Amino acid sequence: MASLLELRNVSKIYSQGLLSREQTIALDNMSLVIDDTTPSIIAVAGESGSGKTTMSLLALGFIEPTHGEVLYKGRNVAKLSREEHLQFRREVQAVFQDPFAVFNPFYTIDHLLTVPIDKFKLARSKKEARQMMEESLSAVGLRPEEILGRFPHQLSGGQRQRISVARALLLKPKLLVADEPVSMVDASLRATILESLQKLKKDYGISILYITHDLTTAYHISDQIVVLYRGAIMEAGDVETVIKSPKHPYTRLLIDSIPWPDINLRWGSSDIQAKEGDFGSAKGCRFAARCPFVMERCRESQPPLFKLEPTRAASCFLYDEFPRLENENVSSLFVYK
Ligand SMILES: Nc1ncnc2c1ncn2[C@@H]1O[C@H](COP(=O)(O)OP(=O)(O)OP(=O)(O)O)[C@@H](O)[C@H]1O
Ligand SMILES: [Mg+2]
Repeated sequence: MASLLELRNVSKIYSQGLLSREQTIALDNMSLVIDDTTPSIIAVAGESGSGKTTMSLLALGFIEPTHGEVLYKGRNVAKLSREEHLQFRREVQAVFQDPFAVFNPFYTIDHLLTVPIDKFKLARSKKEARQMMEESLSAVGLRPEEILGRFPHQLSGGQRQRISVARALLLKPKLLVADEPVSMVDASLRATILESLQKLKKDYGISILYITHDLTTAYHISDQIVVLYRGAIMEAGDVETVIKSPKHPYTRLLIDSIPWPDINLRWGSSDIQAKEGDFGSAKGCRFAARCPFVMERCRESQPPLFKLEPTRAASCFLYDEFPRLENENVSSLFVYK
């Protein structure tokens, strides 16, 4: 399987404070592979502070890992040539949480959509550029005649968010990194935006890294899911399998705490927050302090990922009779059937 984007043993440590003495390990030796052949939607779910945004910034090449590598089509993103980098910039697009923050309020939507067309020289004429804009607006369920000519503040949050998707779509990306794309949008619009993301996969063959703290929407739109806790994967695999029969005690806790299956009820509001200082022992499982099944060995070393089924793994010693999944084999979990 060829990989489109791969995080290989990636750690990100932020240093701050005087002499960089305070360090936060936002991601800890994490691996993830997005397949190049079959477009898929991979959800990365986790509570606040679990490292989701850090992961999306790494995937977009906006920040560099402290250890490990981010590879695009097998090449280290930090070492791309100018041309390769431009191609990467075009093929990997971002959609962020707050669509207002992204748009300059003084420019019309036409202008905002023209910028990428010009930058990447996508159209040969004004007319062609206009056609492209109309096409991508329609693809996300917007009516071009209603949208073009307006300023961002004249649009609803849901419309603005769809415009950021349309803007990404103009570039015909291979991968869309969507960090909490619907968390600031009204519940009534959430489903529409998620549908347009699914349409991008189906109609345009775009893979999506869907980053969320909301398991319900993750279940509705994704093919695979990665559950993060404090910068590490707790459980990963096929979304049906993981959500319908979670195996890791952390995933179980999360799933028990949400009312199903209403897409409008959110998981974030009932987050099981760890208290400060509740970090368990530094060397053991990061979930040990909160785990109902904690064993002696959980406090002594970190459990690796165990492969429980062809499309699922969990990082928990309860499953140590199963084969270990080495980081380099994480890709085998994400082969979409
Ligand atoms: N630039 C930074 N400097 C220092 N620490 C950071 C920085 N960015 C993030 N962190 C820390 O890294 C950890 C992971 O942050 P991250 O933003 O990736 O979490 P998240 O899962 O996206 O959370 P949320 O759901 O709240 O958006 C947190 O402890 C955060 O405080
Ligand atoms: Mg975040």
